[in-house]
Amino acid sequence: MANQALDWGKLDFSYHKAEYRYVSNYRNGEWDEGCLTTDDQVVLSECAGVLQYAQTCFEGLKAYRTVDGRIVTFRPDLNAERMVNTAKRLVMPPFPKERFIDAVRQVVKANQDWVPPYGTGATLYLRPYMFGTNPVIGVKPATEYQFRIFVTPVGPYFKGGAKPISLCVSDYDRAAPRGTGHVKAGLNYAMSLYPLEEAHRSGFNENVYLDPATRTKIEETGGANVLFVDRDGNLVVPKSGSILPSVTRRSLTAVAEKFLNRKVIEREVLISEIKDFVECGLCGTAAVISPVGRIVDHDTEILFPSGMEKMGPVTQQLYDTLTGIQMGRLEAPEGWICEIC
Ligand code: PLP
Ligand code: COI
Repeated sequence: MANQALDWGKLDFSYHKAEYRYVSNYRNGEWDEGCLTTDDQVVLSECAGVLQYAQTCFEGLKAYRTVDGRIVTFRPDLNAERMVNTAKRLVMPPFPKERFIDAVRQVVKANQDWVPPYGTGATLYLRPYMFGTNPVIGVKPATEYQFRIFVTPVGPYFKGGAKPISLCVSDYDRAAPRGTGHVKAGLNYAMSLYPLEEAHRSGFNENVYLDPATRTKIEETGGANVLFVDRDGNLVVPKSGSILPSVTRRSLTAVAEKFLNRKVIEREVLISEIKDFVECGLCGTAAVISPVGRIVDHDTEILFPSGMEKMGPVTQQLYDTLTGIQMGRLEAPEGWICEIC
């Protein structure tokens, strides 16, 4: 489909095939030089490591059209670093950080017509990913890999955009205490599909997972970190070794402290205390900041005072500041904005 046929303002979070993608292959112990291609098909051995033992990981970041017409990405160095950490945990060869950033630049520049115009609410989502390609039948790491980045223009991750969503406390666990929850392994998402379908069937937008060891503490949702606002207007973010270190969350805590003069408290958060918070939100590249109006834990329903109609005031302030930085309306902290063209 040509980008001209897209109604930017009506996009949801789904895939639209853009023109170019970046590909690099790892063979004989090294990554090749990589290139852009228009070929969106991946042809693999029936026995490829990714198909047999799910040796795959990914990242997510966005390119933004700024108020003055530039195209920028937001902290791609942090995605590059996180992918290196994920690769190491899955015994995959890390794609070098500088090369990751260069690949991001190349693929965004080549697809600049696919970066939605400023003010439409849409952005260009980038999906870097890597997978084992050679035949693997005994359980062991592959020796050949492919790294790719495709792009797709997207709108809001949750239907309704800024409307508060409902979460369900899942009976399933997301990540074992010394497992893979802190990295962006495909397997973390495969296992979340069954509980996600169940949550959707029961009328919830997403699941919130508890720590598997005690099932008393909030971890995160299937695709975003959770944040709370307490009665004093402080930002409270759950701390755990098995949640994904969200780039958005790390940026928001800096924004809250440096731009908004708010206190940030990173600590374990008990499910039993969330009734005392006044606002709740999900944060992530796809989710941006999605306000949460309601969390249901079996027969206990928590309705946050911010309600089901609009974002709470602190969540709104965080949202406006973060998106203001990303879209060039506010001056960014040093090194946060990577200008493409
Ligand atoms: N947590 C999970 C499980 C995710 O999949 C994501 C998305 O990347 C996040 C949190 C948010 O991370 P980020 O802000 O880096 O996109
Ligand atoms: C992202 O926010 O980039 C993610 O990878 C989350 C995913 C659920 C879409």
